[in-house]
Amino acid sequence: MEWYSGLKMIHMLTAALTALLFVTRVGLDAAGKPGWRTTPLRFLPHINDTILLAAAIGLVIVTPWMPFVHHWLTLKVLLLIGYIVAGLIALKPKYSRKVRVLAAAAALGQLVLIFALALHKPTF
Ligand code: HEM
Repeated sequence: MEWYSGLKMIHMLTAALTALLFVTRVGLDAAGKPGWRTTPLRFLPHINDTILLAAAIGLVIVTPWMPFVHHWLTLKVLLLIGYIVAGLIALKPKYSRKVRVLAAAAALGQLVLIFALALHKPTF
């Protein structure tokens, strides 16, 4: 259990950063500034998300919470997959503006649900 507080702190910090970095990139695209793709914003989110997921796996190991046993966590993993797919579409210049706006809204909606599930841990 000595790992728990450190892992949880890292998980929560990188979770907040993932939201901030996604909103920043979508916001810059919406403002007609796609140049962020030539800045560290291109790779920083990937490093952050890798740390977020590593801490998530660590939490599953050191806490009693288990996907497919505790369904708030199962749903969280499914929403994470949906968030990744929608987020990829939202940030790909090859898609139309309409598709990207819809994808960004879907990604943000799923991210809000992920945070709500994490904070409330409902039983199903
Ligand atoms: C974008 C993805 C994710 C976000 C934004 C996120 C966010 C959060 C947040 C904010 C908490 C702290 C809630 C609290 O105050 O108690 C949390 C807890 C937790 N997360 Fe995540 N999470 C994500 C992905 C994952 C994944 C993929 C897993 C596991 C496969 C996971 C496993 C856990 C566990 C087990 C806890 C509970 C720790 C505890 O309260 O004892 N998370 N998550």
